[in-house]
Amino acid sequence: MRLDVAFTPAEVRGAIGKRVVVVIDVLRATTTIVHALVNGARNVLPVAGVDEAVRKADELGRGDVLLCGERDAVKISGFQLGNSPLEFTAERVADKTLVMTTTNGTAAILAASGASAIYVGALVNASAVANRVADSGSDALLLCAGREGEFALEDAICAGRIARRIELRVGALTGNDGLRAAMVMATRAPTSRVLSRTSAGRRIVEIGNGEDIAFCAHEDLYDVVPVLDEQRIRL
Ligand code: MLT
Repeated sequence: MRLDVAFTPAEVRGAIGKRVVVVIDVLRATTTIVHALVNGARNVLPVAGVDEAVRKADELGRGDVLLCGERDAVKISGFQLGNSPLEFTAERVADKTLVMTTTNGTAAILAASGASAIYVGALVNASAVANRVADSGSDALLLCAGREGEFALEDAICAGRIARRIELRVGALTGNDGLRAAMVMATRAPTSRVLSRTSAGRRIVEIGNGEDIAFCAHEDLYDVVPVLDEQRIRL
């Protein structure tokens, strides 16, 4: 089985191909999506822009729809929720459709279109995702969202943690140097301290959401694999 790692969507633009893709945005989009679905959200619709999100919510009818997302890590004005996983409680999101736009995470999910399957991965569901990829027997890509087109350490470490778990299941992997680099960076579980020192982590602390980091650093909190299907992410 071949497993590649891309540290930004730009690395694989137009080259996704018919393989399984796992999209990773540890701080915070994919962590939040996993958590929201575990807390009973019906599905999550990733969209590119703020206006598009509002249009989509109007189209669906505002009854059971919540607008969620951030720009520069801050909740978008007029939206019900931002992108802190701690906001997505069962009381708030159960049975709701979440229309979500974030700076990097939702863009990376949309960039994966054309893949044979698209899964949502983070540290909180690392083993569940690794097992799903290993069971597929298909070539796969771990696609890091990065940060505004740049390398994001937290995503690379998460890709390495997932890759190491896949290797334990399927044996030696073939793949690109991105895979090797990610696996070297992932010999140990990343601590909150490591995550809080990344550029995304520093911004989240700066806006007063430091407690999000400890949550996003949890490995294997959930044994679920959200899947993108017909533009909707669901369990
Ligand atoms: C993103 O998608 O850009 C991030 O998740 C942003 C954030 O949560 O701060």
